[in-house]
Amino acid sequence: MGAFIEAIDLRKTYHVGKIDVPALRGISFSVQKGEFVTVVGPSGSGKSSLFYLLGGLTRADSGKVILDGDDIAALTDAERTRMRKHKIGFVFQKFNLLPTLDARSNIGIAQEISGNGRSDPAFFLRITDLLGLSKRLHHRPSELSGGEQQRVALARALINKPAVVLADEPTGNLDTENSNTVLKMLRQSNQELGQTVLMITHNPEAAKYGDRIIHMRDGQIVNPEEDPQWVP
Ligand SMILES: Nc1ncnc2c1ncn2[C@@H]1O[C@H](COP(=O)(O)OP(=O)(O)O)[C@@H](O)[C@H]1O
Ligand SMILES: [Mg+2]
Repeated sequence: MGAFIEAIDLRKTYHVGKIDVPALRGISFSVQKGEFVTVVGPSGSGKSSLFYLLGGLTRADSGKVILDGDDIAALTDAERTRMRKHKIGFVFQKFNLLPTLDARSNIGIAQEISGNGRSDPAFFLRITDLLGLSKRLHHRPSELSGGEQQRVALARALINKPAVVLADEPTGNLDTENSNTVLKMLRQSNQELGQTVLMITHNPEAAKYGDRIIHMRDGQIVNPEEDPQWVP
């Protein structure tokens, strides 16, 4: 056991023309291996900026992200790409499926990219069955509902059994029933595979699926009492 994700004094400011937009103003926390942590905070509080840094998708101005013992900024591009493919499952609010591929191939491509091939057909069947996708595998994203698309995206994120799942508002565009399916699957995957999960959400109900909640406001971590939008 021990910290699987460590954020150390992360700072990030965007520059839009001559204007500086501070997004993260010194964020530090750690997530233990196997923990399911949720991050809540109002729109614009820096949650997505944090998500991109944790996943090695962008760089911080200063501070560090240590993932499974590696300082991700110190890795080469190739090593960072490898880490993303093998260790992290990403889930986005807008699904990000490939439009020309059917559901089966959208999931399968994640296995191919990781080099795992379609090596574990039983796990593929199990995940797609648990997500209620068995009869949807030959449909393209445009032929699927939003909830179905997100369930495909979740299957894609989980298919390689990544050590960590990072999700940015995965239920943001979903109805209650689909939200519950996605949240239960994240929870189940966390419990059965010991995956570390960090999920960003707007929704207090969704946040309760985690073991612990981190509150953000104006690019910083705050106590829940300082988060006026929070309704426990
Ligand atoms: N690419 C960008 N360019 C300029 N400003 C950005 C960019 N991305 C985010 N921001 C700004 O940074 C702040 C934090 O945004 P974000 O991390 O998306 O917050 P959240 O996900 O909590 O809504 C906001 O003020 C937002 O407008
Ligand atoms: Mg966001």
